Amino acid sequence: MEKPLFLYALCGSQRKASTNRRLLEALRDNAPDGVAIEISKLIGELPIFNPDREGEKTPAIVEALAAKIRSADGIIVACPEYAHGLPGGLKNALDWLVSRDEVPFKPVMIAHASHRGDFALEQLTEVLRTMSLRVVDEAFLRISLLGKADDAQAATLADFSENERLSTAIAEFRDAISGGRVDFQAEQRS
Ligand SMILES: Cc1cc2nc3c(=O)[nH]c(=O)nc-3n(C[C@H](O)[C@H](O)[C@H](O)COP(=O)(O)O)c2cc1C
Repeated sequence: MEKPLFLYALCGSQRKASTNRRLLEALRDNAPDGVAIEISKLIGELPIFNPDREGEKTPAIVEALAAKIRSADGIIVACPEYAHGLPGGLKNALDWLVSRDEVPFKPVMIAHASHRGDFALEQLTEVLRTMSLRVVDEAFLRISLLGKADDAQAATLADFSENERLSTAIAEFRDAISGGRVDFQAEQRS
């Protein structure tokens, strides 16, 4: 049997009741066969990025995050918008990865749990592209849970589970990763 595709998900909200984490959980629970999704628990535990602590001085928790990223076939990011920007915690996690070799060319799917937040989405895309990650536009998924009570969020996600929008988004990302691997190897050879 083929090894399952491993997707590592980064949630930019540390809130217990985060709608973005809930969307990631729904994606995880609706992932098609052969795809495993793990939601990172490390982002909120990272120290503030400091270039003086790179190389041999890199904190163990940053190495743990980097190892997860290295082992992942793709990354999923879901984050809220804070003051028309990216949440600091997520940007901090990304900053730790900028100078390392785990992220370049790693495929990324962006998911978003709000009908607002376009500034953050634009900044996220710019930051990820600047870090040489490969943002898969076709896999972008926006399902607004903002302002909905707990049961209304559950009902919305149940609808998107039933109409297979959640599983289809992951399948699109999976297909882009599988196709992209070949293209990237061809690019490397030429
Ligand atoms: C400090 C702070 C700043 C925010 N700034 C914005 C903003 O600029 N634009 C926006 O659309 N929402 C803003 N929001 C609302 C959040 O982006 C929104 O509630 C988001 O869906 C929360 O995501 P979460 O449920 O995953 O935590 C802000 C929320 C907080 C706490």
